[in-house]
Amino acid sequence: MKHLTSLLDLTSEELTAILDKAAELKTKFRNGDRPQLYPGRVLAQLFEKPSLRTRNSFEAAMIHLGGSGIFLTTAEAGLNGRESLPDVAKVLSSFSDIITMRTFSQKLIDEVARYSSCPVINGLSDERHPCQAMTDLLTIRETFGYLKDLHLVFVGDGNNVSMSLAIASAMTGMRLTLAAPKGFEFEASFLELMAEKFPAHRVTQSNDPKFAVKSADLVYTDVWASMGQEDDAERRKKAFANFQVNEALMAVAPKSARFMHDLPAKRGLEVTNDVMDGDQSIVFQQAENRMHLAKGLFVWLLENK
Ligand code: CP
Ligand code: NVA
Repeated sequence: MKHLTSLLDLTSEELTAILDKAAELKTKFRNGDRPQLYPGRVLAQLFEKPSLRTRNSFEAAMIHLGGSGIFLTTAEAGLNGRESLPDVAKVLSSFSDIITMRTFSQKLIDEVARYSSCPVINGLSDERHPCQAMTDLLTIRETFGYLKDLHLVFVGDGNNVSMSLAIASAMTGMRLTLAAPKGFEFEASFLELMAEKFPAHRVTQSNDPKFAVKSADLVYTDVWASMGQEDDAERRKKAFANFQVNEALMAVAPKSARFMHDLPAKRGLEVTNDVMDGDQSIVFQQAENRMHLAKGLFVWLLENK
């Protein structure tokens, strides 16, 4: 049985197989076909943080496949100390076919996976957001037709989204540059992990967004203060002031470059309205693809169970 706690749970071939399945199901969906592959299956969603895209795309995906979803917070499930984690994981997985989780701590997801009798999917932790990164690969592949050698420039924080995109890039032969203010780059421990897992990776960092986007195929950004960092938002706003993705920055990038954001966006902070809503933006294609990717991932996990 496979879990998806991080992209590192997959080989590059497995990642490609999931993208292919998602693309196949998207084409079918567009043609009005929602194959009921898993009638009666149960998706349990265990969340500690808010969500629009992740929670609802997962649930919609399971409904399209013929199953349905249960939602509960980590506190409601008893992970607030009511019951031991192994007990919660064993019980919930005994009546579920897939568990998705969204938590602060990555360790919580890793631990539930350890005791679960069904696949566990990471729907975002402070460290990783693998389903977002896989969706982004699907969207980029739709846009350019391929992934290898494309240059993704992430203008923003060395956070859960950019770290997962860095791993996704290394797994697919893409280049990734993180353009971040000093103090907000990838942590040394993450760069060590990248070097260990992907000796030939092409992930680099810069403190100069204008220089970084000159050769970008994709300009990507995310919020400056992630969920759980609200108290640090003012300090971050100052630190990231020169890292806004606006028309002036997009003008330095090639005209063929596309703009991406995992959403939710803080319009007027990390990105301006003209870029979000402009011709180069593919942000809503990304958001829709969360559902198609979820379907591809569910089918792949259940086939490999
Ligand atoms: N991109 C993303 O994960 O969105 P939500 O936080 O709304 O799930
Ligand atoms: N980095 C953001 C992503 C939200 C989908 C956060 O963790 O809040």
